[in-house]
Amino acid sequence: MTTNSSNIVWHKASINRESLEHRRNHKSVILWFTGLSGSGKSTLANAVNVALFNKGLSTYVLDGDNIRHGLCKDLGFSDSDREENIRRIGEVSKLFLDAGIIVLTAFVSPFRSDREKARRLVKENDFLEIYCAANLEVCEKRDTKGLYAKARAGEIKDFTGISSPYEEPEKPDLKIDTALQGLDECVDDVIRKLIELNIFQ
Ligand code: ADX
Repeated sequence: MTTNSSNIVWHKASINRESLEHRRNHKSVILWFTGLSGSGKSTLANAVNVALFNKGLSTYVLDGDNIRHGLCKDLGFSDSDREENIRRIGEVSKLFLDAGIIVLTAFVSPFRSDREKARRLVKENDFLEIYCAANLEVCEKRDTKGLYAKARAGEIKDFTGISSPYEEPEKPDLKIDTALQGLDECVDDVIRKLIELNIFQ
């Protein structure tokens, strides 16, 4: 991909993140949910979103399955396409952060290096990696979208967990056992963490 930013000058926003956070009465943060397909990322991200919305906070969910219909519809599932997918989501998340919004991302994001790059786009405390730790056996048994069966039958190539790797987070900010805990309990874990970090009172 060619980039040409040599004649482009950064324009400083007249309303900064701090003013927006002050107006909204909470901090912004990226909640980066990662895990196998079927591990509950989207379900959890959406349930946390509802809980935050009910508290009057400004939030937005970026969800893999939806984003791949638009912003990333030109991308497939090769390692390099996934890398580009996560790069774009990292950049978009950063924009939401600047807008004073709590952004929840639900992408498999299987590669450690890609997640690290997304983290490094922002400051240390602006990025929380939340590992939805349901293992392959559980996700495959659930097979909510029927994709594992297709992947086993060789109908989908490069399928995470089957024919493409998932690199577990080594030190996630939060590890949630979505296979053992109920949804409400998982949501409470995330909310507790946000309160602990003073994202909102
Ligand atoms: S990522 O690897 O680039 O982060 P992303 O989260 O956007 O993936 O998309 C994953 C979703 O696409 C899965 O939940 C699943 O529904 C669907 N999907 C289709 N093909 C694949 C595949 N080869 N590997 C993983 N997920 C796939």
